[in-house]
Amino acid sequence: MVRNNGGGHVNHTMFWEIMKPGGGGIPTGAIEEQIKADFGDFETFKKQFNETTAKQFGSGWGWLIYKDGKLAITTTPNQDNPISQGSYPILGNDVWEHAYYLKYQNKRPEYLSNWWNTVNWEKVNERFETAKSYK
Ligand SMILES: [Fe+2]
Repeated sequence: MVRNNGGGHVNHTMFWEIMKPGGGGIPTGAIEEQIKADFGDFETFKKQFNETTAKQFGSGWGWLIYKDGKLAITTTPNQDNPISQGSYPILGNDVWEHAYYLKYQNKRPEYLSNWWNTVNWEKVNERFETAKSYK
């Protein structure tokens, strides 16, 4: 009960905070530099994130985490959160069908691709700072 409902609360609180009207564009600040360092460039990172998250079987989330001084992409089923495996999530995208079926029906990859147009990079940078000092 705590894992599912508590996870749902934590995950969606993050989700609403890392999006904003008129968001998107290229990353800014420290996260931009870290994405370049760990993935080469933003387009490569986005492609890897979208491909990995699209493959999440059933309902779940795609995540950008910071672990051992590097960014990494991972997914979790249901409302699980990487924090349970010791990683603070910098950014996450909801791939439960409820997140996209009204607009995208079964086209999860299209949703994933367009979702980047909502990202609040200022907030993501705040979360990156927290991730760096986590633990
Ligand atoms: Fe959701």
